[in-house]
Amino acid sequence: MKLSLLLINFVLNVALLLGVYSSNYFSRDDFPPDFVFGAGTSAYQVEGAASEDGRTPSIWDTYAHAGRAHGATGDVACDGYHKYKEDVQLMVDTGLDAYRFSISWSRLIPNGRGPVNPKGLEYYNNLIDELVSHGIQPHVTLHNYDLPQALEDEYGGWVSREIVIDFTSYAEMCFREFGDRVFYWSTINEPNVYVLGGYDQGFTPPQRCSPPFGVFPCSKGNSSSEPYTAAHNILLAHASAARLYMTKYKVSI
Ligand SMILES: *[C@@H]1O[C@H](CO)[C@@H](O)[C@H](O)[C@H]1NC(C)=O
Repeated sequence: MKLSLLLINFVLNVALLLGVYSSNYFSRDDFPPDFVFGAGTSAYQVEGAASEDGRTPSIWDTYAHAGRAHGATGDVACDGYHKYKEDVQLMVDTGLDAYRFSISWSRLIPNGRGPVNPKGLEYYNNLIDELVSHGIQPHVTLHNYDLPQALEDEYGGWVSREIVIDFTSYAEMCFREFGDRVFYWSTINEPNVYVLGGYDQGFTPPQRCSPPFGVFPCSKGNSSSEPYTAAHNILLAHASAARLYMTKYKVSI
């Protein structure tokens, strides 16, 4: 009897403490000193300027313009391409330590491979400089669902082994151009969801699937094999870019 009362008392106290401290009283002191507070976005969700200054479509532009996102597109989005200075000021006002964003591959290298787009390079340099000059760590993601449409058309994007070479070249350009100021990199965002949506169930671009797995009627693809092929190529591309970074570009901080 006594023990159970004690236990109830204990549980109530813990609940009270949790209730009090979880509602209003968290502060930075509740986290380890090196905990990084930040916010994250992806290029297609925030940049806008979808066909400005030499950017070409990614597979998300194609999908959105086909009406697959309930008529919404990223043509303007948050207009981050033009408003990045205001955005960084908002991050400063919020007290962020870090900002994670992704690079639009087809803005930086419009055909997916080959020459860099100087305007794209300028935009990311400006954004990174703006962050760094305000003491905000840039965290860069290289691929956030937005493969250049040119590579999808040319060889099927991630289902082809050719993607490993093109992804590695793109990653190297980023490491080379931005690596003096960017020390935190992610290669490919959510590869599991990317292949599930894009190649198994077909609800995200490139919308490939085959019966009976697609959530839409599937006109192209193979849900029994392509998710595995795409995932395999994503792993190879990650390994290739990560090894290149470790051996050639990583600087100690
Ligand atoms: C999918 O690919 C597998 C393996 O290559 C093959 O056996 C199967 O017939 C293909 N299915 C369709 C629907 O094309």
